[in-house]
Amino acid sequence: MFIERKFPNTRLRRLRRNTNLIDLVSETNLSSNDLIQPIFIKENFDGSEPIDSMPNIFRHGIDNAIKEIEDIKKSGINSIAVFPVIDSINKDSKGSQAVDANNFISNSINTIKKQFPDIILIADVALDPYTDHGHDGVIINDQVDNDETIKILIDQSLILASAGADMIAPSDMMDGRIGLIRKALEDNNYKDTILLSYAAKYNSKFYGPFRDAVGSSSNLGKSSKSSYQMSLKNKEEALHEVAMDINEGADIVMIKPAMPYLDIIHAIKENFKIPTFAYQVSGEYSMLKLAINEGWLDSDVMLESLISIKRAGADAILSYAAKEISKEMQKI
Ligand code: PBG
Repeated sequence: MFIERKFPNTRLRRLRRNTNLIDLVSETNLSSNDLIQPIFIKENFDGSEPIDSMPNIFRHGIDNAIKEIEDIKKSGINSIAVFPVIDSINKDSKGSQAVDANNFISNSINTIKKQFPDIILIADVALDPYTDHGHDGVIINDQVDNDETIKILIDQSLILASAGADMIAPSDMMDGRIGLIRKALEDNNYKDTILLSYAAKYNSKFYGPFRDAVGSSSNLGKSSKSSYQMSLKNKEEALHEVAMDINEGADIVMIKPAMPYLDIIHAIKENFKIPTFAYQVSGEYSMLKLAINEGWLDSDVMLESLISIKRAGADAILSYAAKEISKEMQKI
């Protein structure tokens, strides 16, 4: 592999003389096809309201969500990830609303898919938008119980598949859930429903603004998700997580967060060579966006961050900046 390179036969600057040359030999290219826009849709709500800890990002009632998706499509993006913001009166300790076939998110997915049949819609599977304690599963004997939670996640997944979600994305980190959800999807004739596993999801403080957005942070309080989300000190464990999920039937695996975990994205892509997504999470977005809005950083840092994530090995990226970056790339 190693070729001896000597100056002046080699002048690496020859290929950096202008931007056309630089673009011609660029190893990484980001396009609108690689971007997925997350959207927050709020129950019992009309209009749009800003999220304090996420500059330029809103919670939308369903009508405005439709308008927002129109704008996302216009930007050249064809994939969205929907997150429900559930009215606190409808939350309980078991996250019961998650398994009500007529629930807010299923109706929203239905409406969206009717309006935009070919948009790729990703629906999160986890109980935290629905629980009054803010955890992703049910609590038994003071612990988030793995196996009892999976039983609920299976029903939640079937409901989301039947509502028309193209991808089911378990973000809960229970052990064994991918296999059991896959089996339930097969048994119920949802053979083409794609399983996008949040396979390597770290117990990260970068999720803070998202928890504000969906209203789970005050419920969660000081409680931690460390008994199910991965320790940020581990890398080999991420490979175990991914191997398990692939064996259990995941079509795509995801790493989350993205920027502080580029080594994990790289290791997973190198080892498994399967479709690999990364989630640039709320805190990553907000810290960049705030600094940009203050004029402390040039707005190009957002694009730089996304290209870095792609260069590390991600095939696609969920980012709150997706629409805006896509518009920029299309010059609209
Ligand atoms: C919930 C979920 C979280 C995110 C996506 N799905 C938060 C969490 O695990 O606490 C975080 C996304 C973000 O920070 O943008 N299971």
